[in-house]
Amino acid sequence: MEESLKNFESLGLQNYKIEKADRINRVGDYFQSAIVPKLKSLNQKFFYLEIGSGHGHWLTSFASIKPNLLFIGIDLISKRVRKAESKKSSSNLSNLFFIKAEASEFIDSIPNGIHILSTFIMFPDPWPKKRHFKNRLIQNHFLTKLAKSSTINSRLYFRTDHKDYFDWTVKHFHSHSSWEIYEDAWPHDSGSYFQGKFEKNFTCCAKLL
Ligand SMILES: C[S@@+](CC[C@H](N)C(=O)[O-])C[C@H]1O[C@@H](n2cnc3c(N)ncnc32)[C@H](O)[C@@H]1O
Repeated sequence: MEESLKNFESLGLQNYKIEKADRINRVGDYFQSAIVPKLKSLNQKFFYLEIGSGHGHWLTSFASIKPNLLFIGIDLISKRVRKAESKKSSSNLSNLFFIKAEASEFIDSIPNGIHILSTFIMFPDPWPKKRHFKNRLIQNHFLTKLAKSSTINSRLYFRTDHKDYFDWTVKHFHSHSSWEIYEDAWPHDSGSYFQGKFEKNFTCCAKLL
């Protein structure tokens, strides 16, 4: 009985790994077929990334004023990605891509030679309960992974309405050997969908060493 449970669990783990690899390959293929050609046409090897781009308000606004740079927004929820896509279409932007992807998997799918110029995280899920802190996006291992795919001096901009998550993030920026806290103005001042819902927000920025 115990043996069959172990086999069942190991089969589950195997399936999970296969599905994860499929998702990463799919995004990698999309990079090669759609994003790499656009980067070439812009004569660029870098892009701006928004993690958790939701309905795409903010990134669409940012991309519209910088037509010579490339922007990618990722989100876990298909419906949000579709909404963001329709905003992109109405604004007729060819330098903007929205992709359904999980942040860590997305980073694994970035082709060699292409790097993140800066990353934006706005109003991420705060996971307020202590037992759920492990689900927060900002973790040491995530900062290490992001650092490896970012350009030197790349910035990571973070904004939240949740003071405890803000303090957590500042602490992680301080203690990580690849990032340092950096005083920098938020580079594009249009609000995100969630920003409109909260009276207060807290912002910080880290620079890659
Ligand atoms: C509270 S919403 C904020 C949306 C947008 N940034 C804004 O300010 O309006 C957080 C978004 O992050 C997405 N998200 C959460 N974890 C993610 C992850 N690991 N990778 C990609 N997206 C994620 C969620 O699906 C959700 O749409």
